[in-house]
Amino acid sequence: MHNTAQLQQRIIEGLKEIDMPEFPQNLYEPIKYLLQIGGKRIRPLLTLLAADLFSVDDTDNALPAALAVELFHNFSLMHDDIMDNAPLRRGQQTVHEKWNPNVAILSGDNLLIMAYRQLAKCPPEKLPQLLEAFNTMATEVCEGQQLDMDFENMASVGIDDYLRMIRLKTSVLLGTALKMGAILGNADDNDAQHLYDFGVNVGLAFQLQDDILDVYGDPAQFGKQRGGDILANKKTYLLIKALETAGTDIRPELDRWLATDGPAEAKVNAVTVLYDRLGVRQAAELAKQRYIEQAYAALDAIGVHTTRKTPLRTLAQTLLNRTS
Ligand code: IPE
Ligand code: IPE
Ligand code: MG
Ligand code: MG
Ligand code: MG
Repeated sequence: MHNTAQLQQRIIEGLKEIDMPEFPQNLYEPIKYLLQIGGKRIRPLLTLLAADLFSVDDTDNALPAALAVELFHNFSLMHDDIMDNAPLRRGQQTVHEKWNPNVAILSGDNLLIMAYRQLAKCPPEKLPQLLEAFNTMATEVCEGQQLDMDFENMASVGIDDYLRMIRLKTSVLLGTALKMGAILGNADDNDAQHLYDFGVNVGLAFQLQDDILDVYGDPAQFGKQRGGDILANKKTYLLIKALETAGTDIRPELDRWLATDGPAEAKVNAVTVLYDRLGVRQAAELAKQRYIEQAYAALDAIGVHTTRKTPLRTLAQTLLNRTS
């Protein structure tokens, strides 16, 4: 078994070793930039930890799949920031702001191609299964992203719609990162499915935490604009709960803010005050807790000794209390 720090180191090295041409500069520089400003790199870690859970082999076997997952994630972020009109990512200017939206579209496209290039390095006998898992996930992420944008303009979105949307845009990537590791570690189908379910439930809690941090996080740590979701009228768990529970004392004011574009700081501050009055943060924390418990139940169901599961359990715990 490897420890988490060793695997993280291997991922950083693996990312550095990816062939990155110099020319055209405006295609590759944004890719280098986004990869170098970091991020938590949890998805590739999930792949390596999953492989490690089942296999005593060298984890290098699973490294290309892990890198594919991280490249795909960065592709989705580069395009997500255009769609969300986000100025900051990982504490730095977003690519479409630092360069321009066309550059971010094309560099993002190339990141996706780079992800498939890594996938192609996986053991050939595993490739059909890995591609099936990866392609299913990739389509689902696009579906989730479209729903996320559709919801911005809808007056009423239910919690079930929201959960479906975040399962697609965020959770399936965590689940698939783990499932790919399980495939590479020769897990049986049942265990691979349990691990996927663990990832999906961690992912739901992870996105709930992301919604919470968007409003209540410290921007210096979180690295994104505070209240970005409020400014875009994103149907986050917080906003859906607020719309569900606001009475005649609060609802007209909330509706008024949703109907205006700004001024940005005034809108974010005013909506935050309404969220506080309605206690929606606590509701989101409770929902998060439910998914953490479901995640642990799925982890418990996997047929390997509990001590081998400790790194995954610990990682899930840190993620759900994350501030960045
Ligand atoms: C951000 O993911 C996108 C979401 C699904 C919320 P991360 O919070 O893992 O972003 P990085 O890679 O660490 O920057
Ligand atoms: C992330 O959703 C989903 C994807 C990037 C696919 P968000 O839009 O909430 O992610 P952040 O907050 O910008 O990282
Ligand atoms: Mg988004
Ligand atoms: Mg976003
Ligand atoms: Mg977010």
